[in-house]
Amino acid sequence: MSLSHINRVLILGDGGIGYALAEEIKSRNPKAQIHISSRRIKKSSSKFNLHFLDPLKESSWQKFILELREQTTTLDLVISTYGVLHNLEGIKPEKSLREMDIDKMIEVFSINAFTAPLVAKNLEPFLNSSKESHLIFLSAKVGSLQDNRMGGWYSYRASKAALNMFMKNISIEFSRKNLKTKVFSIHPGTTVTKLSEPFLKSSNLKIWSSEETAKHILNTIYSTNSSTGSFLNWNGEILPW
Ligand SMILES: NC(=O)c1ccc[n+]([C@@H]2O[C@H](COP(=O)([O-])OP(=O)(O)OC[C@H]3O[C@@H](n4cnc5c(N)ncnc54)[C@H](OP(=O)(O)O)[C@@H]3O)[C@@H](O)[C@H]2O)c1
Repeated sequence: MSLSHINRVLILGDGGIGYALAEEIKSRNPKAQIHISSRRIKKSSSKFNLHFLDPLKESSWQKFILELREQTTTLDLVISTYGVLHNLEGIKPEKSLREMDIDKMIEVFSINAFTAPLVAKNLEPFLNSSKESHLIFLSAKVGSLQDNRMGGWYSYRASKAALNMFMKNISIEFSRKNLKTKVFSIHPGTTVTKLSEPFLKSSNLKIWSSEETAKHILNTIYSTNSSTGSFLNWNGEILPW
């Protein structure tokens, strides 16, 4: 599917799936202006517009928005890829209640859920154009309440469920304001990245490369008939809340 109508894109987070999305969009539309934000300062790139953004700091948002506005006033597509399941600072998916820790829970919720309304608040002015645009949040099927049969992964599951509620609220507010922006949560499918790597050996699910996943996500965004505010699987199916 050609993306010749997508001219200005922002990918928030340059992890495994985020960077693959930027590459896939560039390959489908070499003329697209693609912005990528990251917490790490990167060398300049001839392909992408790179920006520093720490999404959990209001002051970082202010600097980032000023910088972005110098380069564009509209965005056709924004994809937030923020997510944490484990990290070197001691976050890991909890298997039982005795592993629950308030500071770690707050950190997981901050990254996985609280970033969503901050993204929408700060980027709404760029999406508010006469043309249809998309605001996408990468969520996870394990955040589905109905699909939860195994338990465990408390903070990750609950924070992705919270992300989906934020997404739904954002879609309702955008519709009330008559914005032509469609808002979706998308489960990318199990994908080889830093986030999934420790769990892949024990997974009995189909595992995709980040390049395959980027194709699936873009195909879903631009072929779905689902209404704004939906929680979608990587193949376009609607997922249960
Ligand atoms: N891979 C899978 O199988 C899978 C399955 C279901 C859902 N997902 C979801 O897909 C999305 C992308 O994940 P991925 O697989 O590409 O993982 P990834 O490579 O680890 O990327 C995760 C992204 O989240 C950002 N992030 C992590 N901690 C952060 C923090 N403290 N502050 C700000 N940003 C932070 C990372 O930024 P840095 O690069 O700066 O660390 C990175 O951009 C996530 O929302 C994840 O939950 C992935």
